[in-house]
Amino acid sequence: MAPQQLIGRDAEAAALDRYVVDGSVIAPLSRLPKPAGTLLGLRPLLLTGIGGSGKSALVADLMRRTQGSDWSGPIVVCLDFDQRTIALGGEREWLNEVTRQIGFMRPVLDGLLARVRSETRQHIDTVLRDRERIERLSGTEGLAIFAAMRARLAEVLSDGVLADDTLVMILDTFEEILVRSDLEGPDPEQEPFGQVLAFVDSLARLAGPDGRPLIGAVRAVAAGRVAPFPSDDVRLARWFEAHDEVGELDVHSAAELLRTWGSKRVFTSARALRLAKGLPCYPLILKLLVAFAEHRTGRELDSLIEGPQSESLLGTEVATRALYSRFLERLKDHALPIRPPGKSGSSTPPISGSWLIRASPCRW
Ligand SMILES: Nc1ncnc2c1ncn2[C@@H]1O[C@H](COP(=O)(O)OP(=O)(O)OP(=O)(O)O)[C@@H](O)[C@H]1O
Ligand SMILES: [Mg+2]
Repeated sequence: MAPQQLIGRDAEAAALDRYVVDGSVIAPLSRLPKPAGTLLGLRPLLLTGIGGSGKSALVADLMRRTQGSDWSGPIVVCLDFDQRTIALGGEREWLNEVTRQIGFMRPVLDGLLARVRSETRQHIDTVLRDRERIERLSGTEGLAIFAAMRARLAEVLSDGVLADDTLVMILDTFEEILVRSDLEGPDPEQEPFGQVLAFVDSLARLAGPDGRPLIGAVRAVAAGRVAPFPSDDVRLARWFEAHDEVGELDVHSAAELLRTWGSKRVFTSARALRLAKGLPCYPLILKLLVAFAEHRTGRELDSLIEGPQSESLLGTEVATRALYSRFLERLKDHALPIRPPGKSGSSTPPISGSWLIRASPCRW
């Protein structure tokens, strides 16, 4: 969900808007040079940042801005790999979701796209009908069914109904795809990672019989906690066109967020700014601080950055841990369903921003 107001990300927002309009890459996005032999025609932008840095807020706000209140802007489709069906499903599931969302934004196509999905369902039922046991489709069957589904979609779009439209594909919580993929193996193309990016590319390649693209322009933005192939920009560039690390907010924006979320009585302008200067300015940290501040006095908050522990609180990592642990101490008092932190072999940090938000007893 987009925050009511996106604060302190003007440069990022402007760069994303520009990319949607004409595909340009401007600062703070940094372009990755296209290496020879790239498989993909469309390489998405990649946004990375620690949990709670505001990647989802950034892309959700992009959706809100671009669509406009009357849905007249570009079609924006989000595949959030935080959802199990999307993370575990293959191309067919992704195409199901994409056609559902396109149908929502372009009601004239809704019925036709629903038919694409139901015919695919029937196709699968036919393939599976004579099986004694219900089994999964084989890889080859899955590919054939997906290809047929894509052909049905091309048929629906063949009269050029989207030929002047821009489709923006957002791939959020992208680290969920990374942890399911063996990126060091011989064939990243065959891993979920490569399949998702090839899937997005396949939408850009949809063409009519005369070879003309069926969708005017396709743009794509992937957002996740970590980049694949860390410290290997050449490999990264095979898959992504540009990269931006969503970092800390500037202190003034952080102070503004504290005052937006918290009580202005406790977070006076001066105190909010002081706190922002003493803490890591990531939205989630600020949110935790606001929760921590509930039922506390301004003086107690001052002691966070002025007390004996302030020295260590000023170090980003220590401060993060301190705030997390203080907050978690309080969580223990509540009988909350707590997801086991992290997954084995996962590069996802053990404390997940979205998990904290979900498990939080506070109302935001
Ligand atoms: N610039 C901003 N202005 C206002 N609210 C923001 C901003 N950035 C983030 N938020 C809010 O802060 C919280 C954490 O941000 P968000 O969920 O976008 O982080 P994330 O980077 O996607 O984290 P994760 O890696 O866990 O998915 C959310 O409630 C979000 O709405
Ligand atoms: Mg997110």
